[in-house]
Amino acid sequence: MPWDPDLYLRFADHRTRPGIELLARVPDREPRTIVDLGCGTGDLTSLLASRWPDADVAGIDSSTEMITHARREYPDMAWSVADIAFWEPSGSVDLIFSNAALHWLDDHEALFTRLRGLVAPGGVVAVQMPDNWAAPTHRIAAEILDAGDWPDGAQDALLRDRLSPPPDYARWLQPAEVDVWRTTYYQRLTGEDPVWNWVTGSVLRPVLAALDEDQRERFSGLCRERYREAYPRECDGTTVLPFSRLFMVARL
Ligand SMILES: C[S@@+](CC[C@H](N)C(=O)[O-])C[C@H]1O[C@@H](n2cnc3c(N)ncnc32)[C@H](O)[C@@H]1O
Repeated sequence: MPWDPDLYLRFADHRTRPGIELLARVPDREPRTIVDLGCGTGDLTSLLASRWPDADVAGIDSSTEMITHARREYPDMAWSVADIAFWEPSGSVDLIFSNAALHWLDDHEALFTRLRGLVAPGGVVAVQMPDNWAAPTHRIAAEILDAGDWPDGAQDALLRDRLSPPPDYARWLQPAEVDVWRTTYYQRLTGEDPVWNWVTGSVLRPVLAALDEDQRERFSGLCRERYREAYPRECDGTTVLPFSRLFMVARL
């Protein structure tokens, strides 16, 4: 299912902020090789390259659309289309950075244990993942899909919670010194049906792709109505979308 870089960037400030805050927690250890897993449009990858101008920085993403966008915006950087699940670096890496991508992959025990093993001694693994699986955005979409007459693929396409309890990550990343924290952002969104617009740029993308045009219209109407109730508009015209995220920085 293709990503739409322009739709994703409609909320660029809110989507980039956690990545910038994650980057700020990465210790200054002069990494020589850096990989941004699930780099998307490449904006954060370019910040990694600005902070460590002498490092080899690579962006990896499974979406051709995202990598095409990144290559156009930052033609001098190294971009590859690859699935993180099968990605193997050519040598050890000093910094693995991943913002808002690893929640799309399952079996986190195997994934995080493998990532830790790819990092050189003295290196860092820095990860942020959305941790809002019980929020109305997800619950409402799941209830509508579970109750309605939708094609089988649509229910399967809804991304469900793949995160483990935070102490698991600290254990899987041993012997690193691991800092794990969770932050809730109270995001003020503007415009008509902003919560719907937010989720169609990310978590509901695969669901919409599994529906035909009529089904999409029906699903959209049902979701929008329930989202308006769950996330009422404030008197200043904005809509607050609380969004929790799990962060971790492991120093090997
Ligand atoms: C929400 S975007 C985040 C993009 C970027 N890291 C950022 O913070 O702006 C998630 C990205 O992860 C990528 N992604 C999801 N699953 C992936 C996988 N298995 N392998 C590689 N990339 C993946 C998607 O293509 C998408 O570009």
